[in-house]
Amino acid sequence: MSDLDLDTTARTILTENDQGGYTIPTKGLYPYQWNWDSVFVALGFATFDPDRAWREIEMLFEGQWRDGMVPHILFRKDDPSYFPGPSVWGTDGGPIPSSGHSQPPVAASVVRDLVEADPSKTTLQRAAALLPKLMAWHRWYLAYRDPDNLGVLAVIHPWESGRDNLPDWDAALAAVDVKDIGPYERKDTSHVDPSMRPHKEDYDRYLSIVAACRKVGWDPAEVARSCPFFVADPGVTFIFLKANRDLLNLAERLGQESEAAEIRGWIARMEEGAKRLWNEDLKAHVALDLRTGKQTNGISSASFLASYAGLTDDLTLSALQAHFDRIAAKVRYMTPSYDPDHACYEPLRYWRGPVWAMINYMIARGFAEAGDFARSERVRRDTAALIETGGFAEYFSPVDGTGAGGGSFSWTAAIWLAWASPSRANKAA
Ligand code: GLC
Repeated sequence: MSDLDLDTTARTILTENDQGGYTIPTKGLYPYQWNWDSVFVALGFATFDPDRAWREIEMLFEGQWRDGMVPHILFRKDDPSYFPGPSVWGTDGGPIPSSGHSQPPVAASVVRDLVEADPSKTTLQRAAALLPKLMAWHRWYLAYRDPDNLGVLAVIHPWESGRDNLPDWDAALAAVDVKDIGPYERKDTSHVDPSMRPHKEDYDRYLSIVAACRKVGWDPAEVARSCPFFVADPGVTFIFLKANRDLLNLAERLGQESEAAEIRGWIARMEEGAKRLWNEDLKAHVALDLRTGKQTNGISSASFLASYAGLTDDLTLSALQAHFDRIAAKVRYMTPSYDPDHACYEPLRYWRGPVWAMINYMIARGFAEAGDFARSERVRRDTAALIETGGFAEYFSPVDGTGAGGGSFSWTAAIWLAWASPSRANKAA
C-alpha cells in the first residue's frame, strides 16, 4: 500500500471506530472509550476534522469524577465482550459508569497542540471551557498520587500506567495478595493470541487490586493510603510534567494568572521530584515502589520520555542518547518498550518489549525538543516503516516489525496521520 493509501486507511479506521463523538481503540478487544487512547485519537482527527478532535476530548471529560479524576475507561454502554466491566469496578464517582482509576494525563498537551494549530476565537473558547477541568484533574493527581509531596506520581494499578504488564510492576504486583476475586472469565485472550497477553497470575492480582479499592469505596485518600500497589511511574510522571508545561501555556494564553502561578509551583515540584526516579547505576529514570522504597532495575521506553518532560540537561540527554544507540544496535525498530538487554524482555508480549506508536511519538518530540533531530527523525522513520510493514496494529515487534495485538487500531492510525506519515513529516514535532 502506498503512503497516501495508508493515509486514507487511517482516516477510515478512525471513522469506523467512531461511536458518535468518541472513539473505541479497536472493535472486539476494547469496545469502550479509553482515556489516553482518545486523546491521541484527537491528534489524528485534527488532521482532517478539527471539530471532531475537540469533541473527542470534551466527551472524555464528560466522565470526569466529582473529585477531579478522569477515568481510564468510560463504559457508556454495557458490552459483554469485555472484562472487567462496570459491575466488577463498582464505582460511583462520576456521571458515567467507569473504571476506578486514571491513565496518563496527556490531555493538556494535546489541547495545547489543538490551540496552536488554530488559535481562533472558537478554539480558545473550547480550551477555556476545558481549562478548569484539566486543572481539577491535575490537582487530583497531585493530591492522591503524590500524597507525600515527593514530586513523583504513583500508579495504584498497572493499568493506570497505560503500560499494563511492564516488568517494572512485577515485584510490586507479586506482593499483592490474591483475594476477594472469585471465579472469572477473561475476554482478552479470546480476541487475541494469549501468548502475547499478561499471564493468569498477573490477572488475578490486577483484579485483587480492583477488589481492594472497591472495598474502600474508591475513596481517593484511602486508596492512596491503603492500596496494595503504589508505584511511582516515570511514564505518568514525565507525561504529567510535560502536560503541566502545556497547561501553563494555556493558562497564560487565556489570561488565567492565578492558575498559571499554581501550575508553576507544580512544575517546580515535579522537576525536583523526578530526581528520585534517577537510577545512578543504570543512568536512567526508572520506577520506584513507594511502599518499599525500592527502585526497579530496567530501562523502559518511558525512561526516554525525560526529554519530552523537558529534562534536557546534558547529563540526562547524553545518558539517554547512549542507551538509545546501544538498544538501536540490538533491534531493527526503535523504541522497544523494555530494554532488550534485560532478562524480562519479550519482543511480542505487550509491554515487555513491543514498540508502541504513540510512545514513539512522544519520545521523538522529546528528542526534537532537546535539539536531537537525528534521533527524533530515526524514531519517526521507524514508526512509519512499522506501519508500512505491519499495518495499523496495536503494537509491533522491534525485531522484525510484526504487527500484533488488536488490528485497525485507533491510536496507531491517529499517530500515523498526525506525525508518522511522510505526508505529515514536515509539519509535526
Ligand atoms: C491496553 C493498553 C493501554 C490502552 C488500552 C486500550 O490496556 O495497555 O495503554 O489504553 O489497552 O487501547
